[in-house]
Amino acid sequence: MLIAIGCDHAGVALKKVLTENVLAEQSFVDLATDADTPVDYPRMAFAVAKKVAAGEAQLGILICGTGIGMAMAASRVRGIRAATCTEAYMARMARAHNNANVLCLGARVVGTGLAEDIVHAFLHTEFARGRHADRLALMDEQGN
Ligand code: RB5
Repeated sequence: MLIAIGCDHAGVALKKVLTENVLAEQSFVDLATDADTPVDYPRMAFAVAKKVAAGEAQLGILICGTGIGMAMAASRVRGIRAATCTEAYMARMARAHNNANVLCLGARVVGTGLAEDIVHAFLHTEFARGRHADRLALMDEQGN
């Protein structure tokens, strides 16, 4: 499984912690940024989202200040179900019930230890399918 990861300036430090720890044994591609200078988060959101939507990565992780802007932007890409999670239960449910394929984190919201727990939960939970798949099909049919 390949994970695409990206962040804006607010997420650089947390991305470094995640890639050196909870993601160290995973295959990942880092789509930037690595600089503290302000950048526009939709650029990284679309880079990661498009890679996942194209099937070139199986899951994505996006980090900004709150995780909110990244989720809004990434979810504009068809086929992307981005979820902002602030604790591990949300991450498990995002995968099990919502089949989220992009995890969004707020570096100004969660500490590094909690962020690692969230990522671990997200990566190690499978989609439960069944009735949850029917509900997601409704999104694809009726959303844009
Ligand atoms: C940058 O200051 C901040 O707006 C961005 O990281 C993010 O939180 C947006 O949702």
